[in-house]
Amino acid sequence: MTDFLVLGSGIAGLSFAIKAAAHGSVTVLTKGRLLESNTAWAQGGISALLPPELREAGDTLEKHLADTLEAGAGLCNEETTRTILSEAAETIAELVDWGTAFDRDEEDPSRYSLGKEGGHSQRRVLHAKDTTGHEIAESLIATARKTPNLTLLENHFAIDLVTTAKLGSATEDRVLGAYVLDKENEEVKIFRSNRVVLATGGCGKTYLYTTNPDSATGDGLAMAWRAGATIANMEFVQFHPTCFYNPGASGPEGRSFLISEAVRGEGALLINSQGHEFVKEVHPLGSLAPRDIVARAIDQELKKTGAPCVFLDVRSLGEHFAERFPFIHQTLLDYGHDATREPIPVVPAAHYQCGGVQTDIEGKTTIRGLFAIGEVACTGLHGANRLASNSLLEGNVMARRALAEILRLYPPGKETLPAPDIPPWEYGDTAPPDELVNIYHNWDELRRTMQDYVSIVRTNNRLRRASTRLRNLRKEVREFYWGNQVNPDILELRNLVACASLIIDCAIRRKESRGIHYTLDYPEKREDYNHDTTLRRF
Ligand code: FAD
Ligand code: SIN
Repeated sequence: MTDFLVLGSGIAGLSFAIKAAAHGSVTVLTKGRLLESNTAWAQGGISALLPPELREAGDTLEKHLADTLEAGAGLCNEETTRTILSEAAETIAELVDWGTAFDRDEEDPSRYSLGKEGGHSQRRVLHAKDTTGHEIAESLIATARKTPNLTLLENHFAIDLVTTAKLGSATEDRVLGAYVLDKENEEVKIFRSNRVVLATGGCGKTYLYTTNPDSATGDGLAMAWRAGATIANMEFVQFHPTCFYNPGASGPEGRSFLISEAVRGEGALLINSQGHEFVKEVHPLGSLAPRDIVARAIDQELKKTGAPCVFLDVRSLGEHFAERFPFIHQTLLDYGHDATREPIPVVPAAHYQCGGVQTDIEGKTTIRGLFAIGEVACTGLHGANRLASNSLLEGNVMARRALAEILRLYPPGKETLPAPDIPPWEYGDTAPPDELVNIYHNWDELRRTMQDYVSIVRTNNRLRRASTRLRNLRKEVREFYWGNQVNPDILELRNLVACASLIIDCAIRRKESRGIHYTLDYPEKREDYNHDTTLRRF
């Protein structure tokens, strides 16, 4: 029994765990290594309205709020958004205390260097060159390692939540813990806790082209869905406009390498093969327009011209490019592309899941004792389209808020509810090796289906096709899952199929275009759809 069971070692999970350890025993489980997370790959930075003496002149909470609401296309919860944005300065101070070194202004090192990204009306993005996420993740891991009362377990893959309802109890549904695959011993263990925090990140891997690392398979989202929690707004999958186009790359890294929006914030321009700045035709901010508009403009340009990619021209930045974005510059060089000489070929790729497990502003889900924070959650901050660099902020702020709420409602050491027996895991038969081929085939089919039918521009017809294919995939995956010994690839495929189905179901329900959900059949925004799309299994 652990007082707090935390699933995931990104910014949300670790930041929660470090703080919770002052109040009870904490166990953090992560399915790979601690550094495997979307957090570790974040480039641009973390948006924050700093104290008056440190912020850019003229910036205010109202401006950050207005930019976030504008990007969210009428679907942000304004109160939630205001609350999260207003706690940014505390969040930055906390990260700095844990050792995160954000870049300082070269001329006045008492100030931070602030970047700008699409949709922001002011410079308010703190960063550590172009590897902000890595800097944050390293400092959190180092702090977590030396925090008493905190156990970090790598290679522990959470399979499913255990709840009273799943055990057949008719009383109020509450969480009791999780079944977890210890990948090194191939053993399924039971971790018991009355306070479970899902911090498992997003599900970018539902798409063929994504900026996300391999860990982003939507496990927590799928687990919460299977446990009966309410899921919201899954149709809002954010595509990042500028992913390096590198069809010759042998590994997945080359195909999914992000070129930060901060590069455009410093003056780089999106152009087509004729050198024309085509986004200007659809938005006055051109290359720095909100992300949904830029991604759609690229999609349209590619369809119109038949070209495989568009280009990001950084040449006007001169030496500043390599100084400010050393990681991007070097990685491109490693792939044989010198961005200071030739524009970078780019395409949009799935990047961020704005929907997720629905929570209130304290991270509470609809199941007692189960909290969701970070990208796995849908708090109402992002609405129909996330403003760049608001997600690292949300992860850290929500960790603090969720802890305060747990301490208020379920303080450790004061358990009053019975602890029912949890039956041991039932192992299936061993999977014959040739059946794993089917799994990889299904994985590929799933990601291609989502890429072709459920991406930037949707139609009823494409969504229906995707839905039919998903029905077959669900059936096959159920057979693998129940017939075979538990295996991380099968578990991830099962979770991806669940997430993809939720994305399609939500997209079919929203008969309008809003933010990043754009459909040719209903091209306008409609007042009667000014609400979340929610789904619940039972
Ligand atoms: P993650 O950081 O993804 O962590 C999830 C953790 O859960 C991982 O450790 C994973 O291994 C673990 N996990 C998953 N499933 C299981 C399971 N079944 N059992 C156990 N553990 C599990 N946002 C910004 O605000 N600014 C940026 O500049 C920015 N840049 C980005 C660049 C890239 C390339 C990407 C991919 C994303 C970027 N984002 C950015 C988004 C941001 O990084 C994420 O939204 C945020 O880091 C999510 O944090 P998290 O803690 O919720 O999840
Ligand atoms: C980027 O650096 O462009 C990513 C920022 C984000 O997704 O918030």
